[in-house]
Amino acid sequence: MLHFAVNYDELVKDFKKRVIIEGTPILVTLLADKVYAIQDKCTHMGASLSKGTFNDHKVQCRLHGAVFDLNTGEVQTKPHISFIKMPAKKAKVFQTVIQDEKVYIDIK
Ligand code: FES
Repeated sequence: MLHFAVNYDELVKDFKKRVIIEGTPILVTLLADKVYAIQDKCTHMGASLSKGTFNDHKVQCRLHGAVFDLNTGEVQTKPHISFIKMPAKKAKVFQTVIQDEKVYIDIK
């Protein structure tokens, strides 16, 4: 089911916005001309990924450094405190659809 997220004309370089759809916080971002949507809750300890660092098609959580692929949600770098690495699950990613100058997120 498609849910409205943002107007297409809001999408500028490095755009980031947290939206809540059906009670789920979702981060919508535009990086390198592609719109991504990923759960805005780190799978490690729940920090908002929208406050993280974005690079290429990845986001790094600001709390313990977990890096998630925005295409797949896979963990690229495990979270860590000092030299101790910890587990984190894959993040949920969502398909985005652009219709009538609006961006929708497909929640399945
Ligand atoms: S809460 Fe995100 S890495 Fe720990």
